[in-house]
Amino acid sequence: MIPRWLLEADRRGLPATEVAVLVVGSGVAGLSTALELPPELPVLLATKARLASSATRYAQGGIAAVLAADDSPGDHWADTMTAGAGLCDPEAVRVLVSEGAAAVRRLQRLGASFDLEGGRLALTIEGGHSRRRIVHAGGDATGAEVERALAGAVRSAPNVTIAERTFLVDLVTEGGEATGAVLWSAGDAGGPRLVRAGAVVLASGGAGQLYASTTNPALSTGDGIAAALRAGATLADLEFVQFHPTALHLDSDPRPLISEAMRGEGAVLRDQRGAEVMAGVHPRGDLAPRDVVTRGMAARMAELGVDHLFLDATGVPAARLELRFPTILARCRAAGVEPTRDWIPVSPAAHYLMGGVLTDLDGRSSLPGLYAVGEAACTGVHGANRLASNSLLEGLVFAARIARAIPAAVPGRWSDAGTPAGEPFPLAQAAPDQRARDSRVAAGGGDRRIDGVRGQLRRLMTGRAGVLRSHDGLAAAAAGIIGLSGRLESVTAAGGRERWEVANLLQIGAALTRLAANREESRGAHSRSDHPEPVEAWRLRQVVTRRPDGGLDQGTIEVPAPEEARR
Ligand code: SIN
Repeated sequence: MIPRWLLEADRRGLPATEVAVLVVGSGVAGLSTALELPPELPVLLATKARLASSATRYAQGGIAAVLAADDSPGDHWADTMTAGAGLCDPEAVRVLVSEGAAAVRRLQRLGASFDLEGGRLALTIEGGHSRRRIVHAGGDATGAEVERALAGAVRSAPNVTIAERTFLVDLVTEGGEATGAVLWSAGDAGGPRLVRAGAVVLASGGAGQLYASTTNPALSTGDGIAAALRAGATLADLEFVQFHPTALHLDSDPRPLISEAMRGEGAVLRDQRGAEVMAGVHPRGDLAPRDVVTRGMAARMAELGVDHLFLDATGVPAARLELRFPTILARCRAAGVEPTRDWIPVSPAAHYLMGGVLTDLDGRSSLPGLYAVGEAACTGVHGANRLASNSLLEGLVFAARIARAIPAAVPGRWSDAGTPAGEPFPLAQAAPDQRARDSRVAAGGGDRRIDGVRGQLRRLMTGRAGVLRSHDGLAAAAAGIIGLSGRLESVTAAGGRERWEVANLLQIGAALTRLAANREESRGAHSRSDHPEPVEAWRLRQVVTRRPDGGLDQGTIEVPAPEEARR
């Protein structure tokens, strides 16, 4: 199942670099971690594409935080817990909501410019929120603004070396601890390299590319999560994949997102006959938690035998739409849809992986020396279904906590008192034609046989392990993944980014389908046609680790009672 060459990166004789902290990934979580670490710690920030090309850039809606006078951490906590359908870790949620406002203020001090109304932060509302508490920037370009501010600050941090086009091949472990990673850089000065680190932080995002239809960029292939699994770290909650209800119904990869904030401003989901899709489905109607809306849409589409529905924003004043959603309007217009006049064709698309590397409240994984943050991590704040706009928030809050925890852990794990040992990490400048090649690889279009495996996996997961699942479908997905893994092995024995990405997706797909098959109930984003109701005995979180023989060990962990965290 796991490709032989990935089981143990052959690191003998590799050129080596030593740093205090290796951060993998350059979205909000990775950039924030690098920035918040003390300036005396040398940090290597490795990112597989360009610094500003992570999934963060695509985030539209905003950052949920308690900033309004009529709001409270208790209310944000309650909304997050409700959306999470009984599986949130209450203490992790308490941390998230009580440290959120400070995280937004930190971003403002770094120069992030959020939208204002009447001289105060403008706040919008999205599904599952009981209050307007979501800050946004550029109308619907919040992720891009956050990424801009953080990337600018990281570029001028003297202790941070940025290695672009540098791929995480595998983690390195010694004596049951993570001690570094094998990285592979593209370009003339590139190739494999061993990086020894006092701490490794995985901020490498989710795995939306497991699905044929996703809002995630081509880069979202779960590299950090799969590497953590191979290294022996515990993963959790992998069966919970959030499908965003309203991606623009286009045959594109990724699918453009139509922010939930549009429904927050009054847009309504309609079917082909004009009927309101969410009427009578949930008391909050179009602003029900995301999983409820996605299921409501899937049911209506099945009933009508159609592959999309519509978002009607024509009731929102045109000037308001132009001000709040310039990016969405531009994308719709490019596709020939005029949202001030036409209903927008929409359908669900894979959007966010609630599961990932199991961590404590300071981002520590089960493997000493290894930390995870952002979508790669599973802190327990999202439970079975993430509350809208809690993801940028999670990246910011938990990055700051990791950065506070690491300095105490690094001495003794990192040999140096200030001067990095080994060679400095060689930084290749991408020539323009190389950049064009990189973006072709990122979008697929390299080796056709590897692309073929990737495409088949994505279709299989969409059909068998997507919005609506069943025992038979999940069994077919698991069998298909075994077949595709064998096919990948036979295509080529050599490595290379395209192949590593597909191998990572296959490994996560195998663990995900296993946990989804076990969970014989419907809860949050996990819906089973053969077990359509939640089952109290399943108010448990599932964990998975890899055995040395490559098999998967599964287990469960209890979810603490909510009262314990509120005291
Ligand atoms: C959206 O704007 O609808 C997406 C925000 C999120 O995923 O939290």
